[in-house]
Amino acid sequence: MNGNGDNAIEIQNLEMVYSDLWGHARVRALDGISFEVKKGEIFGFLGPNGAGKTTAIHILMNFIYPTDGKAWIHGLPVFNSECRKRVGFLPELFEFDKFLKGKKLLKYLADLAGVNSGEVEARGRELLEFFEMAEAENRKVKTYSKGMKQKIGLAQAMISDPDLLILDEPTSGMDPIAKSKIKHKFLELKERGKTVFLSTHILSDVQQIADRVAIINKGKVIKIDTVENLLKKSDDTEVTFTLDDSKIEQLKQNWNPQHRSDSAYSILTGSKQDKAGLIARLSELGADIISVIPPRTDLEEIFMQLVENGTEIDKPDQQA
Ligand SMILES: Nc1ncnc2c1ncn2[C@@H]1O[C@H](COP(=O)(O)OP(=O)(O)OP(=O)(O)O)[C@@H](O)[C@H]1O
Ligand SMILES: [Mg+2]
Repeated sequence: MNGNGDNAIEIQNLEMVYSDLWGHARVRALDGISFEVKKGEIFGFLGPNGAGKTTAIHILMNFIYPTDGKAWIHGLPVFNSECRKRVGFLPELFEFDKFLKGKKLLKYLADLAGVNSGEVEARGRELLEFFEMAEAENRKVKTYSKGMKQKIGLAQAMISDPDLLILDEPTSGMDPIAKSKIKHKFLELKERGKTVFLSTHILSDVQQIADRVAIINKGKVIKIDTVENLLKKSDDTEVTFTLDDSKIEQLKQNWNPQHRSDSAYSILTGSKQDKAGLIARLSELGADIISVIPPRTDLEEIFMQLVENGTEIDKPDQQA
């Protein structure tokens, strides 16, 4: 890993220690994180509050210098401003000029980004309509609600039709309809070969649209993998049933029934054969099967397990 142009982002052993005015180290926000984001991926950057996500994003944007390690965008070191020419950025906390009107703000930022003047009007209109902000386009940004401000923030990140979007909590404060539209927008951008790097706490959204995720905690990458791999289910199916107590003893010879309520028991089966065998045996014994619940897991569950209990540290797996 050293600035491969096939990757949208590369981060290598990044360390950030914030110091106080006297140069005394205070907070180790990043403790040697490494990973890469491939071009054309939707990549979720996850972690609990204070994990170091915004710090890493600020290094990518060259707002702060890491105390160690390196980072590249589109194969160029992040201190080379050329690397951000095709990047759209949404900061976590932002305040645009309050007196500018929504449409003017987009035009102003598009001009700064060097967007062809012929395209500015059309793209601005398309984005304002997409975010259902057309009727507010001539209102001052300071009069916008929280979600509207967030929408104009996202619109400005997209105004130059960048190849890479770096978004720090993009859907914060947005209603479910807007969130759903934005998810589709990200998928559409991916289809057009764009890369979306997003830090978020909304794991269900990431689960639906991201190709890969990195989970960081206390400045370290604790997991990096495809969403598909992370969601790979255990083989356990839960079979719940009622059965006379006298027959439960017979079942115990081969299975491990757990009491669920006065009359109900449940058994976890580990494989298809196990499940078929159990159901056949339960029928034989005259049990009443209440439910057969297939294995399930979600990103939120995995996130909680890894952050709360797990200390699993993944070396970045470039093949994942
Ligand atoms: N300028 C700063 N000076 C000192 N410490 C800082 C500074 N900025 C961030 N930190 C600390 O670095 C750690 C990581 O913060 P960061 O903002 O990167 O977390 P985050 O993962 O983005 O969290 P959140 O999900 O709450 O946005 C925190 O302990 C934070 O207090
Ligand atoms: Mg943050």
